[in-house]
Amino acid sequence: MAVDLLLGLQWGDEGKGKIVDVLTSNYNIIARFQGGPNAGHTLVFNGQKHVLHTIPSGIFHDDAVNLVGNGVVIDPVIFKKELDKLAEQGVDYVSKLKISRKAHLILPTHRLLDAASETAKGKAKIGSTLKGIGPTYMDKTGRNGIRVGDLELDDWKIRYRNLANKHEAMIGFHNVEIQYDLDELEAEFFEAIEVLKTIPFIDSEEYIFNALESEKTILAEGAQGSLLDIDFGTYPYVTSSNTTAAGACIGLGVAPGKIGDVFGIFKAYTTRVGSGPFPTELFDKDGETMGRVGHEFGATTGRARRCGWLDLVALKYACQINGVTQLMMMKADVLSGFKRIKVCTAYQYKGETISHLPFNIEEKNVSPVYTELKGWKADLTGMNKAEELPEELNEYIHFLEKELGIPIKIVSVGPDREQTIFR
Ligand code: GDP
Ligand code: IMO
Ligand code: MG
Repeated sequence: MAVDLLLGLQWGDEGKGKIVDVLTSNYNIIARFQGGPNAGHTLVFNGQKHVLHTIPSGIFHDDAVNLVGNGVVIDPVIFKKELDKLAEQGVDYVSKLKISRKAHLILPTHRLLDAASETAKGKAKIGSTLKGIGPTYMDKTGRNGIRVGDLELDDWKIRYRNLANKHEAMIGFHNVEIQYDLDELEAEFFEAIEVLKTIPFIDSEEYIFNALESEKTILAEGAQGSLLDIDFGTYPYVTSSNTTAAGACIGLGVAPGKIGDVFGIFKAYTTRVGSGPFPTELFDKDGETMGRVGHEFGATTGRARRCGWLDLVALKYACQINGVTQLMMMKADVLSGFKRIKVCTAYQYKGETISHLPFNIEEKNVSPVYTELKGWKADLTGMNKAEELPEELNEYIHFLEKELGIPIKIVSVGPDREQTIFR
């Protein structure tokens, strides 16, 4: 068997959580491969909304195993809060969740370092979620990190202390005012560690290898989006992990030849939260409408998301990097009522018209070239069959399929599990 991947193709928040939940009934194992609690994956079913940060989005199904892979960074405090919420809803998570021993831990001082670094950057800040993601991945590549498996060793608290002391010195180095009470943060952290230890820690690459050998089906769930990838995103305004397909091989220990389908998920328009370039960003009424109708507020930080038209130059790039085999278009319902729909098909770049993503897409270098299509009026939110979709939306879909050369297999018309149209 092969591992299928589900990845965001834009700047995150494409609707990955919803689609993983929709697809989970086809899989035995759902595995998160990177990122951490910077992610906020929203699921809606039976009139209830759930937001997951570290826990894979298959957790509400009875039969699937949900694995937190080695590429993920875990904040035990946030993880415990997620577990508490699941318990309130009667979800038996202990039998369904597994954590890789090789996943790294986010310490309270990682969060403080994130805040210190962002404050020190001032106007040039990344707009990080302040969850300690960057500092934790820095300790991973710097070979200083503490991993889940270390919690099974006797001396881990000594290592913790040494690292936390070093972090405190580093916070001082940033020379900014950061208020904190480390004793309080640590009390919460150590309590959460005990809860984390109630979840089975496993050698996850071995587990996945054996699962594939015994014909189990696996879906790897990405976090963030391709344009936030540490290598291929809009650096330095990116996250600190590989959010693209290769990140799944690294973040789970799956050989490249074992990857099956790559599901690429995108919104019918574009959003971005945090700093960084965004060529098709709108500052007018259209952008305001997208934000209002699409409820574009971050699931993790509550920040308003910036909105703009679909950027096909960036989307094509993401499809290439990931080897996308099937596309899923989300939030088509949000565009109902727009008279004209614009799609960016090229950039004006240094006096030339180009159709690839250049090294730098800052506003001063790049301006979008748009193609206009007819909009549709119909409310899509009650539709559940492809035949019901309005003609103009079908034209939009066909246009995108032709430009990208990849079929759009799902059109999402609302946040609920049921508001999903298969084509
Ligand atoms: P993720 O991080 O990729 O899982 O996406 P988020 O959960 O952060 O953001 C997607 C938001 O859009 C959530 O509030 C979802 O409930 C919502 N959503 C998902 N699909 C649709 C859709 O087709 N239409 C509308 N209107 N909302 C959607
Ligand atoms: P999901 O999985 C949208 C953005 C932050 C910031 C940058 C770096 O829900 O799609 P970080 O905290 O990772 O150091 O922040 O990345 N970012 C996201 N934007 N969705 C996400 O996750 C994000 N995770 C991080 O806003 O610009
Ligand atoms: Mg999100």
